[in-house]
Amino acid sequence: MRPSPRDLAELDRAAIAALERAYAPYSRFRVGAALLTDDGRIHAAGNVENASYPVGLCAERAAIAVAIAAGARRILAVSIATARSRPVAPCGMCRQALVEHAGDIPVRLVTRRGRRRVLRLGALLPAAFGPSALAGR
Ligand code: THU
Repeated sequence: MRPSPRDLAELDRAAIAALERAYAPYSRFRVGAALLTDDGRIHAAGNVENASYPVGLCAERAAIAVAIAAGARRILAVSIATARSRPVAPCGMCRQALVEHAGDIPVRLVTRRGRRRVLRLGALLPAAFGPSALAGR
């Protein structure tokens, strides 16, 4: 299933809404991530920081946990929102986390002010280590 422009616009709005609910009192760098999954649903979360800094969770991985908990399996598109003036790309750990549940999907980097950059996950993490590397152990 290829996401429609309408689905993608809704996905961007969900990422921005999740950004508003992020818990980032330490960095004050709020991020929202929204995932469109193959059941047609959108799952979103913001980053969740912690007084013990390394315990903090990025928005993308929080959204993956939300999606899996809701019974979703494959991710068709992701939108990542920040409050910066320019679109911001996801960290390496979140690129790896996305690869587990997605093919070469569009990664939409959006700002609150409506700027947008779209990259492919395969371009963000080429030659990725993934589930197939463990197959047939
Ligand atoms: N952060 C994300 O939520 N996603 C990323 O891809 C990069 C970083 C969060 C982690 C931390 O709460 C804050 O942004 C500053 O690094």
